[in-house]
Amino acid sequence: MTTQGNNLDRWYNHYADRTAGLSASEVRALFAVASRPEVVSLAGGMPFVSALPRELVSGAMDRVMRDDGPRALQYGSGQGVPALREHILEVMALEGIRGSVDDVVVTTGSQHALELITKLFINPGDVVLAEGPSYVTALTVFKSFQAQVEHVAMDEHGLVPQALREHIVRLKADGKTIKFLYTVPTFSNPAGVTLTWERRLEILEIARSNDILVLEDNPYGLLYFDGPAPHAMRSVEEDGVVYLGTFSKTLAPGFRLGWALAPHAIREKLILANEAAVLSPSSFTQLIVSEYLSSSDWQGQIGVFRGIYRERRNAMLAALTDYLPDLRWTIPNGGFYVWVTLPPHVDAKSMLPRAVKELVAYTPGTAFYADGNGRNNMRLSFCYPTPEFIREGIRRLSTVINGELELLNTFSQTGPLDTTHIHQGTSSPAATLG
Ligand SMILES: Cc1ncc(COP(=O)(O)O)c(C=O)c1O
Repeated sequence: MTTQGNNLDRWYNHYADRTAGLSASEVRALFAVASRPEVVSLAGGMPFVSALPRELVSGAMDRVMRDDGPRALQYGSGQGVPALREHILEVMALEGIRGSVDDVVVTTGSQHALELITKLFINPGDVVLAEGPSYVTALTVFKSFQAQVEHVAMDEHGLVPQALREHIVRLKADGKTIKFLYTVPTFSNPAGVTLTWERRLEILEIARSNDILVLEDNPYGLLYFDGPAPHAMRSVEEDGVVYLGTFSKTLAPGFRLGWALAPHAIREKLILANEAAVLSPSSFTQLIVSEYLSSSDWQGQIGVFRGIYRERRNAMLAALTDYLPDLRWTIPNGGFYVWVTLPPHVDAKSMLPRAVKELVAYTPGTAFYADGNGRNNMRLSFCYPTPEFIREGIRRLSTVINGELELLNTFSQTGPLDTTHIHQGTSSPAATLG
């Protein structure tokens, strides 16, 4: 007789070992609560799609249906529509990337490319090097393929090359197989920091000399505020980098269109994996987005998004300075996120229910680490709420944090907490992350 499951799930004992890696993230649990209208959510990373004129999309859709309807409604190729792949080259050229249309593979969002690459490379126990902190749903993918995620330290200039070097030496001495380095070098999620040009070159050199593939994930690169970011890592290294892009942040995530630009041999396997997973990415959305890119001022539209997010970033930084001047936070030059460091004794995760009671939500830092780090950190998103709501959200948050500090001070066995080491919103080297 086979072993029984449990009361909640009859099939509990039947799952593959890798399913254990699929635990619900903090973000997921939060969405349900934080989506209530009275809560100011600084938690999710939803793009502000209302800023995209809908007639631009409906116009493109009408033209596709009129001129190319049967193709839009049919299966397509596993690699994606050639005309869209041509446009993708134009998009990537803005960040210094030159590639061949043959090496672009369209995927169902860059999330799917992340999963396919992980599936192609990771055996259980293989090491994935990842920034600490890292994009939460990338960590879910790595864990679901039973990778051992090893975080590498970052500071306000991004990944620290020396930390990477030392970590690789340690892992190799332990006999570990390192498969790739996952990085969001530009306006990172969740830290909001950008890897400098010098460090990009240094990290590529470290990866090259250690035979480690770089997985460069770049959803936010074109959403800069004070000036463009350094060119993509893929702009200098072709063979050692798989580059991931997406239309989710510069157009709309509802299309579910992303892509990978990969060295030829990997590209071949990626297409086969894409076919195995979805047969072909959606012809319908690919043709609409391709038509949109042909017929509209898409770069102007990205400029509109930049202006909106810049204003919201400014609102968040000003509110933090006004309401929580004793904390530390990163100063993003683009993207969606600010990473906040709380005093060492504050646990952002256990404080969250109190925050939601005060009608403000954030994402606790532990969501972005595979190893339990980030307890006294939180990610704040400024992409979705208006500047007024952002300010009100930070005001509510300050009530929660100050209440928490008061509580900790009252009940601390060791007397009042020492907060003298905390400096305001600094970008000095002391502001290391995590
Ligand atoms: C760093 C990063 N990578 C990948 C994704 C996935 O984006 P999509 O699948 O919508 O292209 C996101 C979404 O928030 C992200 O922040």
